[in-house]
Amino acid sequence: MGLEIKEVSKKFITKNKETYTLDNINLSIKKGEFICLLGPSGCGKSTLLNIIAGLLKPSSGTVSLSGQVVKEVGPDKAMMFQESALFPWLNVIDNVEFGMKMAGIPKEERRIKAIKYLKMVHLSKFEKSYVHELSGGMKQRVSLARALTLDSELLLMDEPFSALDSQTKSILQLELQKIWWETKKTIVFVTHNVEEAVLLGDRVIVMSANPGRIKREFKIQLARPREAQSVDLAYVAREVMNELKEEVEKVAKSEYDNDWSIEKSNILYDSNNNMGSGL
Ligand SMILES: Nc1ncnc2c1ncn2[C@@H]1O[C@H](COP(=O)(O)OP(=O)(O)OP(=O)(O)O)[C@@H](O)[C@H]1O
Ligand SMILES: [Mg+2]
Repeated sequence: MGLEIKEVSKKFITKNKETYTLDNINLSIKKGEFICLLGPSGCGKSTLLNIIAGLLKPSSGTVSLSGQVVKEVGPDKAMMFQESALFPWLNVIDNVEFGMKMAGIPKEERRIKAIKYLKMVHLSKFEKSYVHELSGGMKQRVSLARALTLDSELLLMDEPFSALDSQTKSILQLELQKIWWETKKTIVFVTHNVEEAVLLGDRVIVMSANPGRIKREFKIQLARPREAQSVDLAYVAREVMNELKEEVEKVAKSEYDNDWSIEKSNILYDSNNNMGSGL
């Protein structure tokens, strides 16, 4: 049994006005599946992830993990955030152990696991370093190690690589694919980057905004391990991009002005006119 999201809606009340951020989200995720959530800024991706994690309550609907309704946060749902959420006063290994400490795992077991996962993310040599001594990519690897130590069935990742340079990002994408393959976790991964979604996901869920809904689902049937540069991947990414483009344009027009367009703004393309540099 995996993760079941049933008729989940979420409304926020600001300045006496109710807005539906999520509207009737239904998603059934199999154990061990890798799901990527893609959508324009503000469509409710983080809100949905926070509801799955038990950090937020839905206004209606339910989320169940392995048949149990999610009511609160817990070590069965590890979360990795966009910005590294590490403690500057703790060294690397103590940061990695922190989640396990909260979960009440005994000291010796914590150390053994922390060493194992630091090795998995290639940071064994840095266990005594402090956060300010690490690069952005290293910090995200520490966060990943910390999330993995909980041995949770579910790993939730909210744009974990979006602040990284493209080389570091590629390395971490490769490592994550390998770790997912080895650990058989269920992963829900939020991203703005179409190529990243197609590279990693078994399915890519494209969301629309205002209110946040599931617009379309793509089953990615490319063989693994996948190559970011492959022609087949670029072909699928273009198809996904066409779906997403409409939504991004809709949101941008409501936030900027009516004659705004993706082509004029260049946000989906890099200087070489390659797609997927992130929205
Ligand atoms: N605690 C809150 N109170 C009021 N409104 C909120 C709250 N949290 C989120 N929102 C609103 O819900 C909407 C969705 O926010 P959310 O952070 O889930 O979007 P997102 O898809 O993750 O965006 P991004 O891609 O920029 O991270 C936004 O309009 C936001 O202002
Ligand atoms: Mg977000």
